[in-house]
Amino acid sequence: MNNLSISAYIRITIAFSAVVYIMESFIDTKDKSFAFQENLLYALFLIVLLVVLIAIETVWKAIKLLKSLSPEGHFDNTPITLKSLLQTLTKSKPIEAEDQLMLDHDYDGIKELDNALPPWWVWLFYICIFFAVGYMVRFQVFNDYTQLDELDKENQIAALHIEEYKKNNADLIDAESAVFQSDEKTLSEGKEIFTTNCAACHRADGGGGIGPNLTDDNWILGGGMKNIFNTITEGGRPGKGMVAWKGTLTSFEIQAVASYVMSLHGSTPAEAKAAEGDLWQETEQQ
Ligand code: HEC
Repeated sequence: MNNLSISAYIRITIAFSAVVYIMESFIDTKDKSFAFQENLLYALFLIVLLVVLIAIETVWKAIKLLKSLSPEGHFDNTPITLKSLLQTLTKSKPIEAEDQLMLDHDYDGIKELDNALPPWWVWLFYICIFFAVGYMVRFQVFNDYTQLDELDKENQIAALHIEEYKKNNADLIDAESAVFQSDEKTLSEGKEIFTTNCAACHRADGGGGIGPNLTDDNWILGGGMKNIFNTITEGGRPGKGMVAWKGTLTSFEIQAVASYVMSLHGSTPAEAKAAEGDLWQETEQQ
């Protein structure tokens, strides 16, 4: 056992402890126990790291031994410099040593060089290894965001864009193109609009107050999605109190609240107002 292997033990121990320490301080564990006890991947990573550290030391030692052997088989004690190490890592030869690379083949005077892979290629390879380790630590050990998180994020951004679009195109829907929206999101949005703007006159349950009952089969201004949309947009008969909402609500909001009104049909509010208007035939509804 020479000096090198003793200092290697120290080096490996220090590097290993440093990584363990850094990771421990990053990973949040519930009861302050060591993270690798809770996280199998973390434990696996540490084992791999240890193997890699030992491998690096072994290769380092081998390089040093090889370097110290002169071609004649004698030890020469040229120290390992960064340059010589880099050259060993990429197996590159300086241009002056080109003749050593020549293959024996001689095809009518045409000779061939036995070049190692170009250093830029080899470096790319090493960088890939580093990247892979970083990637693994980030996504497998620290469980950073997943593809599903990414999807959620993009969906949120898309939803913002849709909102923005609706705002900029407030009049996109008219009575003809309005369609009953049965999805929960739209209905709850409609309910909110109704509670804020309409409940004062139609009551929160739609049973009617100043305005008529919106849950029965009778309609003054016509039932069905198109008529309801139209009434909310343009208002009721003059002087009756039902204003036009087109200036206040966007057409999307009107479609939502009209859908909500539609969804109230058939519910039986307590103290519902007596039916007004004509009986609206289901079949006429779209
Ligand atoms: C200031 C009171 C008032 C408010 C606020 C109000 N309405 Fe009305 N609403 C009325 C009156 C009054 C009528 C009857 C209009 C008529 O007879 O022409 C009516 C009629 C309607 C009708 C047609 C009913 C039918 O029988 O044809 C619908 C649908 C309606 N309102 C929905 C809404 C919605 C949705 C809102 C909220 C965005 C709203 N109203 C806000 C008073 C109101």
